[in-house]
Amino acid sequence: MSCEACKKQKFEKVCRILEEHQADKSNLIPILHAVQREYRYLPEEILTYIATSLNMPPAKVYGVASFYAHFALEPKGKYVIHICDGTACHVKGSIAILEAMQQKLGLDKEKCTTDDQLFTVETVSCLGACGMAPVITINEDVHGLVTPEKAENLIEEILEKEKA
Ligand code: FES
Repeated sequence: MSCEACKKQKFEKVCRILEEHQADKSNLIPILHAVQREYRYLPEEILTYIATSLNMPPAKVYGVASFYAHFALEPKGKYVIHICDGTACHVKGSIAILEAMQQKLGLDKEKCTTDDQLFTVETVSCLGACGMAPVITINEDVHGLVTPEKAENLIEEILEKEKA
């Protein structure tokens, strides 16, 4: 693959990902997953770059990226917190956890990422661990039987770790 843009650091990672997937359009979804893991979201110029590299219309790539809720088209925080609001978690107080976290981080329904890009707080439907409801995840870590207090403590721990 000839890759002028590879020299620019911003495109280095996406170039590597494309190479790992043989720049094959049938690998579009795994490519988007890998890109999101690296950049934490799918920047518009990267989507355009992927489209060009795979010889696909940019609108098609953008359409796939926006179709799946898993893909983020806006920047996310370093710590993405998912609060389960499936039935079991809802009944056991997930909204109180959401509100406590939003309040602690200065977030609300419209604003789900902190200005310093450290935290993103979102609700999701059943995380598949209803026996531990209410459940939240912080990046890959799952926390069960969460209370608003426990949630605030988890944020405190992260803030301490970030300061260290
Ligand atoms: S409803 Fe929350 S894990 Fe199932």
